[in-house]
Amino acid sequence: MKIIKTNSYEEMSLEAAKIIADVIKEKEDATLGLATGSTPIGTYKNLIKMYEEKQIDFSKIRTVNLDEYIGLPPTDKNSYKYFMNENLFDHININKENTNLPNGMADDPDNECERYKNVIDSLEPVDVQVLGVGHNGHIGFNEPGESFESEVHVTNLTDRTIEANKRFFDSIDDVPKKAITMGIATIMRAKKIILIASGEDKAEILSKIINGDVTENVPASILQKHPDCIIIADSSALSKI
Ligand code: F6R
Repeated sequence: MKIIKTNSYEEMSLEAAKIIADVIKEKEDATLGLATGSTPIGTYKNLIKMYEEKQIDFSKIRTVNLDEYIGLPPTDKNSYKYFMNENLFDHININKENTNLPNGMADDPDNECERYKNVIDSLEPVDVQVLGVGHNGHIGFNEPGESFESEVHVTNLTDRTIEANKRFFDSIDDVPKKAITMGIATIMRAKKIILIASGEDKAEILSKIINGDVTENVPASILQKHPDCIIIADSSALSKI
């Protein structure tokens, strides 16, 4: 595990974008594994700027996202599909047919997991996977206790995750209780992983991820075993290391 400590969220975002841009420059049809949430927004802004400055070209790039809420249509501003269009895809020259997320509106979520797993299989290996991290150590929506062997699956969000994500919704009752997520085994197959974190509220969990035991109770602790994982975090998030 390599750790890059930055002075600010902005610097964290730029460092992460540079690594992704290097992957794109090296392989024009790279597969990017993408995340949503607050943390990657600055990274995506930097990628958009690099595209506008003609440093990178997304025309052949393929993407797979970590997860999607069950029950939110793509038109809902809280769906992850909407988020990705709004924060990245609508601003770059990516072919939207090459962008992939689970369908949270599928009639049969288990069949949808199978379909999405096949999509990922056909695009693997993911060249670089971006991860944020939950306060409980979740990556994707793999909550504490999830098996390290897990593949794409339906998951019940914990109360802590629902509480953390209610800031995006009108009320806590509107936060979906279930999601489809890549599993931990799926995530670990990426060639390179970058986990980004910012702010003091992530300090406790980052110290467990970096220095604690590798345990299913802290899903992101498995990253200690990945051959090419970089944690990029600001000094507040690394204040307990
Ligand atoms: C998002 C995802 C989640 C978030 C995590 C942190 O696709 O899979 O694991 O990365 O909940 O969210 P933020 O960045 O909002 O703190």
